[in-house]
Amino acid sequence: MTSEQFVRELDALNQELLRRLAPEATLKPEVEGDLSVVNLLKVALKNEVEASESAARWMSTTPEIDVKLALARQVGDEAKHYRLIADRLAELGFDARGFNPLAKGYGPLFQYLDTLTSTVERVAAGQFTREAIAVVKNRQFIEFCEHAGDRETAAMYRDVIEPDERYHHELGRTLLLRLATTPAAQAAASGAARTTLELADELQKKALAMAGIHHAPGC
Ligand SMILES: [Fe+2]
Ligand SMILES: [Fe+2]
Repeated sequence: MTSEQFVRELDALNQELLRRLAPEATLKPEVEGDLSVVNLLKVALKNEVEASESAARWMSTTPEIDVKLALARQVGDEAKHYRLIADRLAELGFDARGFNPLAKGYGPLFQYLDTLTSTVERVAAGQFTREAIAVVKNRQFIEFCEHAGDRETAAMYRDVIEPDERYHHELGRTLLLRLATTPAAQAAASGAARTTLELADELQKKALAMAGIHHAPGC
């Protein structure tokens, strides 16, 4: 099939699987236990630093100049998100300067992405799929913030972070259209996208079971 058909089908399948990340319950968010904007923003710091570093590692080992530069932009955007979130945490009374979100190591999704060596898999997993997940999770987090009465954090996500993540996803689409042109490339891209969604789904279930977290923002 053409890369246009392929990307359309991959997008449709991703969106269908992403509905699992958007259960009905998240439409009526409720704060329970320890679940607070501050604690969720700390999870977000980890996601942002991992997204930045993942793109940085790939940048140095990706030969295609347009993809290399797309990754460079993403490295900077995710670092900017980290700083914005750290600043917001300071306003909310948490000093993130002494906080290392990687103290307990990198997460399974980061580790999986780090094993991908072909450009088409990287773009399918890290940009097209991971950033589609981020868009859904951020939408849920914005609602959570609004219900918790935190309009400023909601606005930061809606006006700055969310448009960047959407841009990363669209960049993934543009690059995939150019790269996913053969059956082998399309199979590799589908496999990487599937594993990314499975890992995200697993992480989500674990976070829900362990801490009741189902609104943690993505990147
Ligand atoms: Fe992103
Ligand atoms: Fe981000």
